[in-house]
Amino acid sequence: MLKIENIKKTFLKGTVNEKQIFNGLNLEVNEGDFVTILGSNGAGKSTLFNVIGGSIPVDDGNLIINKKDFTNCPANRIAKVVGRVHQNPQLGTSPNLTIYENILMYLRKGKKFTLRKLKSGSREQVMKDLSKFELGLEDLLDTQVKFLSGGQRQALTLYLIKRNLPDLLLLDEHTAALDPKTAKKIMDLTCEIVHDCKITTMMITHNLGDAIKYGNRLIMLDKGKVILDIKGEEKDNLTVESLIQMYSSKSSEFDIPDSMILSA
Ligand SMILES: Nc1ncnc2c1ncn2[C@@H]1O[C@H](COP(=O)(O)OP(=O)(O)OP(=O)(O)O)[C@@H](O)[C@H]1O
Ligand SMILES: [Mg+2]
Repeated sequence: MLKIENIKKTFLKGTVNEKQIFNGLNLEVNEGDFVTILGSNGAGKSTLFNVIGGSIPVDDGNLIINKKDFTNCPANRIAKVVGRVHQNPQLGTSPNLTIYENILMYLRKGKKFTLRKLKSGSREQVMKDLSKFELGLEDLLDTQVKFLSGGQRQALTLYLIKRNLPDLLLLDEHTAALDPKTAKKIMDLTCEIVHDCKITTMMITHNLGDAIKYGNRLIMLDKGKVILDIKGEEKDNLTVESLIQMYSSKSSEFDIPDSMILSA
């Protein structure tokens, strides 16, 4: 469903700070895949999501989603098929609107409406849905999102995604800013949505344990290249030790950061 063909991207071209991120990246993701993505800082993981989400243009290559060419399309067009949860819980929702207004806005994306008109809508159903998250969101429907905790905001973003399912879901270290208990809650919620709604998903993580535990495929990016691509049975049987071994054998100058090993 996703095809990245020969993508090239260099930042700050022609300046002393010129940095080539991708020099012909190819990647195919099948419908229903849940791909976890590992890679050291600066490997190009978020840039890959920025390319898929249309927030940065590429210099060359093609971005195909569901057989349609989205190369260098505006982000708002791509947002109709690609949903994204960022590492920073402040992104993904409108901070000055209440929870309920955010939900209404999201559901009516691109349509003409007034908030007052919409408010007569399905408030009770929303409260019922949100209460299942056990994060107290149902009691805060009229609270501005800027007053919510990081975990509550990520849960709300996931709820918005669930209410208006994208074809492809991008999760960029979306639990990294949360305490361990809330991170687990958000991860459980994520899995529930991904599995129940069968959304094709790509999840960037620095947690080796999570990369192994979740999904049916694991890829590792290093300097803008896919250096490991593990799927099926091989992925099912993966252990932290075997992954570290594979990792090291692929790149002589590359070490798994201690933080990744410790988090496994
Ligand atoms: N808009 C930009 N302009 C210039 N350089 C950029 C831009 N976006 C990213 N970069 C550079 O591209 C490289 C890859 O960045 P990217 O954010 O994709 O890394 P990452 O793999 O997500 O790392 P991390 O694990 O730290 O999030 C980095 O060196 C970064 O500084
Ligand atoms: Mg990143």
